[in-house]
Order: sequence, then structure tokens, then C-alpha cells
Amino acid sequence: MSEGQFTPRVFSGIQPSGGLTLGNYLGAMKRFVDMQEDAYETIYCMVDLHAITVWQDPAKLRHATRELCAGFIAAGLDPEKSILFNQSQVAEHAQLGWIFNCVARMGWMKRMTQFKDKAGKNAENASLGLFGYPALMAADILLYHTTHVPVGEDQKQHLELTRDIAIKFNNDFGVDFFPITEPVIEGAATRVMSLRDGTKKMSKSDPSDMSRINLTDDADAIAKKIRKAKTDPEPLPSEFKGLEDRPEARNLVNIYAALSDQSVDAVMLEVGGQQFGQFKPMLADLAVDKLAPISGEMSRLMEDPGEIDRILAGGANRARAIATPILQKTYEIVGMVGA
Ligand code: TYM
Repeated sequence: MSEGQFTPRVFSGIQPSGGLTLGNYLGAMKRFVDMQEDAYETIYCMVDLHAITVWQDPAKLRHATRELCAGFIAAGLDPEKSILFNQSQVAEHAQLGWIFNCVARMGWMKRMTQFKDKAGKNAENASLGLFGYPALMAADILLYHTTHVPVGEDQKQHLELTRDIAIKFNNDFGVDFFPITEPVIEGAATRVMSLRDGTKKMSKSDPSDMSRINLTDDADAIAKKIRKAKTDPEPLPSEFKGLEDRPEARNLVNIYAALSDQSVDAVMLEVGGQQFGQFKPMLADLAVDKLAPISGEMSRLMEDPGEIDRILAGGANRARAIATPILQKTYEIVGMVGA
């Protein structure tokens, strides 16, 4: 594929399944804001069609979609600069998703570790949508001829599958139509871990609320969770490699680095030699400083759901303007009459 054939364009999505965590913020949202300020066209989606691959209460889904939009804006996304919309308002996602269901191979899907994790022991009872999910995700991305996708580490395999689908489509039809998208998995917090167990990802589905910081937590809750976070008795080393076998300590240092926009090496120079009794209050202050205004702004925005709906509808119109011609061309390549 020739370099520069595609306009640099960023797309990413978050599921509106309720409960945004510090992991979503540092691994995704904060980086979405950084990319908005760079010279990219940026498109960010509340992926409601993905959320319903597991049961969602309809009223809660509506609330979570609006709350996620409020979260995006509170975190610093500007609906004028970036396109913000919910997936189901742009029907082309489902339409291209179907085409990709016919491109992706069963064997590829069976290797997806997130399906295995989410379906658990009861895979026979999982929805077909949950199994086919990564093909819809590829459609989300390729529908905009996206070149860059900022995500956390847990989405890496899905992005590799997106590349495989683009390559197979291009080969099958002898075209150079879909770009081979670059995953952007960068920074200190691409995998924020549980505050109770440094070997487990921080997740909204963890039964313990103390394991995560929610974007809706107030200052007291944030400070308490950091104070109680699991650590070890050693002081912090002055080099990051000294944290190799100390997952909980490493996680807190990564969070500190990401929240303060510093490299982990710079953080180690600052905090090396400190005990956790000293480091944790610093981290708590920083986290409250950065996160409490976001949760305050989210609640303020949620007071006017009509305005949020207007933003989503406007974003959907702008998204559709890019997506429609790309889907039309795809249909034509595949051989649909009337395309
Ligand atoms: P989702 O909704 O599970 O998560 C949204 C984003 O948050 C990141 N993330 C984390 N990053 C660091 N540490 C953590 N503990 C952590 N937890 C979550 C995720 O990596 C993700 O970037 N399949 C996607 C949604 C999706 C999508 C897309 C993403 C659908 N279509 C197209 C990009 C492009 C998902 O379930 O993310």
C-alpha cells in the first residue's frame, strides 16, 4: 500500500456499558484528547452495538451512552473538533460489519482471547454477537479508512484481526481499498491494573469496588482507594527496572506517570527512595486534582440530556458523511447491484 494514500484519521470507541474506570481514562480517553490536539481528524464513538453483545437493561444503556458522551466532553474532547457519536445512529457500521462477517474466518475468531474471557465456561450460551464482535470492530475502524487507533493493551489482538480483515478483503477483490491500520498503544498506562491485585487488569466488572477508581468517584473515594491500594513493604527504587517483580508498586508508578504526563524514568528520579507512606498521599492528591473536575463536569453535563442528544445527532451526521461513500464503494467492489 502506498504511503500517504490515506488521510491521517483517528477512530476509537468505548462501550457504554456503565462505569468508566481510571483504566478507560488513562488507556483511552486522555489519549483521545491528546490526539485531538495533533494534526489528525478524530472520530470517537460510543459503541452501543458492541455493548448489547451481553445483556443490557435498555434504560441503563441509554443512560450509560449519554454518560459516556458527558465523560468524553468532561475529559476534554470538543464536539466541534472531534466527531462524537453513538454507533447505532450510523447504520453503515452494521452493514459493513456484515460484509466483514463474510470475510473473517471462524478459525481467526476462535483465537480471540477476549471472547474466551468474556464467555467464560459457558461459551455455548454466549450470544453470536459476542463471538462476531471483532468483525464489527473492524468495520467501525475501516468504515472511516482509519489510519490510527488509540487503545489500551487489551485491544491489541482485535486490531491485528482488523489488519487481517483489511488484507484479506483487499486480496480477495484485488483492490487496494482498505488501509492497514496502525494500533497506537503508547504511554505509561496502556494496561492499568487492579488496585487490589497488580496482576489483574483494572476493570468495571471486578466485584470489588476498591479494585478500581471510577470516573464518577468523588475526592474522598479516590483518596481512600489509593490509601488502601495493595503495595509491598520496600521503598521505591530509583530506576523503573527495579519494579520488575513488584506489580502493585509498578502499577502505582505508571498511574502517577500517566496522570502527571511524565515518563516513568522522570517519575523514578522524583520518587526513588520514598516509602509508600510518602508516595501514596502524593498520588492521591494528583489523582483527585486531575479526576475530580472530570466527574464534576460529567454530572453538570448530565443535567441537560437534550444537549447531549443534540451533540450525538450532530456527530452522527458528520460520521455518516464520511461513512456512506466508503460503504457504497465497498458494496460496488463486492458486486451488489444498485450500489
Ligand atoms: P472497552 O469499552 O472495553 O474499553 C475502552 C478503552 O479503554 C481501554 N481500557 C484500558 N486501558 C488501560 N488499562 C485498563 N485497565 C483498561 N481498561 C480498558 C481499552 O483498551 C479501550 O481502548 N472493543 C473495544 C471497543 C471498540 C473499539 C472499536 C475500540 C469497539 N470498536 C474500534 C477501538 C476501535 C472495547 O471493548 O473497549
